[in-house]
Amino acid sequence: MPDPGAKKENKIEAIVLAAGRGTRMRSKLPKVLHRLAGKELLRHVLTAVQELNPSKTHVVVGFESGQVQMAFDGSAHEVNWIVQEQQLGTADAAKQAVSDVDSDSTVLIVLGDVPLITSETMRACIEQVAESSICLVSAEVANPRELGRIIRDRKGNVSKIVEAKDASAKELLITEINSGVLALPGAILRELLAEVSNDNAKKEYYLTDIVGLARKKGIKVSALQAADPDEITGVNTRKDLSELERKFQFDQAQKLMSQGVAIADPERLDVRGVVKSGIDCFIDVNVVFEGQVVLGDHVSIGSGCVISNSQLANGVRVEPNTVVDGAVIADNCIVGPFARIRPGTVLEDNVKIGNFVETKQATLGRGTKANHLAYLGDTSVGEDCNIGAGAVTCNYDGAEKHKTSIGDEVFVGTNATLVAPVEIDDGAFVAAGSTITKKVGTDELAVGRGRQRNVKGWKRPSAHTSQKE
Ligand code: UD1
Ligand code: MG
Repeated sequence: MPDPGAKKENKIEAIVLAAGRGTRMRSKLPKVLHRLAGKELLRHVLTAVQELNPSKTHVVVGFESGQVQMAFDGSAHEVNWIVQEQQLGTADAAKQAVSDVDSDSTVLIVLGDVPLITSETMRACIEQVAESSICLVSAEVANPRELGRIIRDRKGNVSKIVEAKDASAKELLITEINSGVLALPGAILRELLAEVSNDNAKKEYYLTDIVGLARKKGIKVSALQAADPDEITGVNTRKDLSELERKFQFDQAQKLMSQGVAIADPERLDVRGVVKSGIDCFIDVNVVFEGQVVLGDHVSIGSGCVISNSQLANGVRVEPNTVVDGAVIADNCIVGPFARIRPGTVLEDNVKIGNFVETKQATLGRGTKANHLAYLGDTSVGEDCNIGAGAVTCNYDGAEKHKTSIGDEVFVGTNATLVAPVEIDDGAFVAAGSTITKKVGTDELAVGRGRQRNVKGWKRPSAHTSQKE
């Protein structure tokens, strides 16, 4: 039985506007699918919205709506997709969603092109609806450019929003801008949207007009100023996007530094995912992290490395220009320079992988070395082995992949070709240049190559004779 005396919890519904083409991006891709830190703008917004636990999230799509919806297929975001057939403006977009919205819920409207918006700011905006009926998020910015200006009356109350294209020279000097985020009761939203016209410079239905309309009806409007203007910066051009990306990345670098990571240049690091790290790590310039990356203590990453979805334990050293993807690397391994560690690679303690070595679905036991120019795919290698330069596991027969199993303390000589499936037991020695197609037993020497013949008295072809022939 519900407690009749209990305060009714106000339901939150979110409307995210994402139907625009983003003409100023000059792209075939819908604007909200452009990426910041490797993640679509809309996904950033939806992630922040989801933290508010809205009872429903309506996303208005239009330009290439199918493509936008497909990008979120199977994702954790539960969304009520609404299609705005013609992009007649932000008020028209909100109108498409409003019939699906409960009148007695508090509606949060967010633009899909404001990727750094935080759930804290949105929550504060929603909470303010209890006092004034409409609360919008604004910010003081140095360069307000084409953003909507907040007009306040003599008492300092918000009276309306003027879009840059419709603003007078005096209004354009205002530096308090509209973020596009606002919260209000569903019933008021419905009522005001019905009154918005497109009598303006762009001949669009501006959502921002509901502020002036509300004031005329005596509905109280307040503005909550965001502490950090970048949080509410909308992306309209590729320049906007690149500026926001650098700002976001600089913040990521600061966070890592506060966790005890030394960063050669916080302006030359990109985190496209989440990096968890221990202390006293060092990250040189131009490193990119993707997906989920975990670093232990004292990990060092050389310049130009790309590290994706991997775990690097204490003391791991990744030398410059190395790509590590989907790998688990144990304590004190050294990898690179110029190595490619592919998914399914497991390196146990003290493994050394040198230049131009590629690994894939490969486990290398403690202390094993592959110092130069090798390919190890679908392979398990035991402890303390030496894999010579140019050694290749031939794992693919054109149809299927096969496994190479190598025991402990095995020496695989230079340019050995190991044709899988094949096993090489503990202590075996594979002579340089061998092609191995059969199992090599414990402590055996395998030589699988043509014998050398030295021919005495042979005639080297000369350029003169070969032309005559
Ligand atoms: C809007 C605001 C402006 C604010 C700025 C903040 C209006 C009229 N102006 O301007 O006051 O300072 O955001 O970034 O609201 N959209 C639709 N359907 C449409 C048109 C747009 O869904 O018919 C979506 C777009 O996909 C986009 C968002 O609404 O995600 C904002 O549209 P955009 O054209 O970028 O508006 P701004 O000019 O940036
Ligand atoms: Mg915009």
